[in-house]
Amino acid sequence: MLLFLITFAHLLCAAIARPSLNYLENHYGRENESEEVRSAAIKRLLEVFGMDDPPLTRDHKQPPQYMLDLYNTVADVDGVTKDPYLLEGNTVRSFFDKLHSEQVEFRFNLSTVARSEKVLTAELHLFKLRPQTSATFNRHHFCQVSVYQMLDAARFNLTQERKLLSSRLIPVHSTGWEVFTITQAVRSWMADEDSNLGLQVVVRTIGGSQMDMKLIRFASGRNHHQSKQPMLVLFTDDGRRSATPEITDINDSSALPNLPQAGPASRTARSVDYMEEEGVSMHCQRLPLYVDFEEIGWSGWIVSPRGYNAYHCKGTCPFPLGQNMRPTNHATVQSIINALKLVKGIETPCCVPDKLFSINLLYFDEDENVVLKQYNDMVAGSCGCH
Ligand SMILES: *[C@@H]1O[C@H](CO)[C@@H](O)[C@H](O)[C@H]1NC(C)=O
Ligand SMILES: *[C@@H]1O[C@H](CO)[C@@H](O)[C@H](O)[C@H]1NC(C)=O
Ligand SMILES: *[C@@H]1O[C@H](CO)[C@@H](O)[C@H](O)[C@H]1NC(C)=O
Ligand SMILES: *[C@@H]1O[C@H](CO)[C@@H](O)[C@H](O)[C@H]1NC(C)=O
Repeated sequence: MLLFLITFAHLLCAAIARPSLNYLENHYGRENESEEVRSAAIKRLLEVFGMDDPPLTRDHKQPPQYMLDLYNTVADVDGVTKDPYLLEGNTVRSFFDKLHSEQVEFRFNLSTVARSEKVLTAELHLFKLRPQTSATFNRHHFCQVSVYQMLDAARFNLTQERKLLSSRLIPVHSTGWEVFTITQAVRSWMADEDSNLGLQVVVRTIGGSQMDMKLIRFASGRNHHQSKQPMLVLFTDDGRRSATPEITDINDSSALPNLPQAGPASRTARSVDYMEEEGVSMHCQRLPLYVDFEEIGWSGWIVSPRGYNAYHCKGTCPFPLGQNMRPTNHATVQSIINALKLVKGIETPCCVPDKLFSINLLYFDEDENVVLKQYNDMVAGSCGCH
């Protein structure tokens, strides 16, 4: 992605240096080709978002509240990551139960998760319903809820047909979401898809005897409202995130004597004056660039955001480069060589993003699971002469 942005920025810089856009018009003006360019560009953009094809747009269900809340926790209204260290990994998926069993049994189809993804945590989310009124008078106050992974005993020559994943005491009269960690099971299903026989939930009294299932009830995908459906929430990392956010700290104008040290406040005013008075291009700065998912035709599968401001960097990098232009040492020297005309054909440095932020997308994948994904280096945080 960084490469893509830089290439794009260089193109832009080259276009500014040689203001002949006729080249582009001649080559992409014809309708036939512009359609090809458009589809190639959209395909490339999909790749940036880690997809080969856009997910099918159907009449989607309401996304789980948990996923909406999670999105709003990690992202601001534009989808920009609030805190890059809040989420472990860069992908969160929610899956609905495919079994719709009468029993407290569940199965989730994880086929949309790539083998290469690192499984960090997996959780089973169950909505505990209020006990039925006829059963409210009961001597039990707590019950033991255990989640088991079903095993193929015959295939693997095992003595047991299930494995305990998680177990907890829950108040009998409580209502609301209960979360159980099932990471081990999901890791084994990722390693061998055929071993996924699902999960089983068993409720016992504290003494260990079977509990009346009228008393302890969990919402199922079969009989209860969609918002209370059993759900598997999977946190993974696809390895696309770079190790640390790239922040270039530039402190190099000391290498040059007598450079004007314009502050950030005076920069804007100066650039505007410069433009107005002399009709020349403005100095390097960050300008808005709104990426509208509706215009691209993606609003059918992207839940949030509707679009985001990627910003772009525009302007000239003439000598002398003030600190507000955040020049690299290399750019400073290049601008000097350019100004002194010591070597022929040396342009002024380019105005490019020097700090990039990540954005978050909440979307429906091809299997209609709701996915939250973080993408690095999507928003220009600041611009500099490089
Ligand atoms: C459009 O492209 C097709 C093949 O891609 C070509 O056969 C056709 O001549 C082109 N039409 C125009 C008007 O360029
Ligand atoms: C899981 O979903 C995929 C894609 O929808 C499908 O091809 C596959 O058969 C499903 N697997 C099971 C075990 O249902
Ligand atoms: C299965 O286990 C039994 C007893 O542990 C053993 O006798 C038998 O050979 C095993 N079968 C296979 C196919 O490993
Ligand atoms: C920046 O450079 C000055 C002068 O060389 C130095 O005193 C200062 O410590 C530097 N600041 C940082 C943050 O490196």
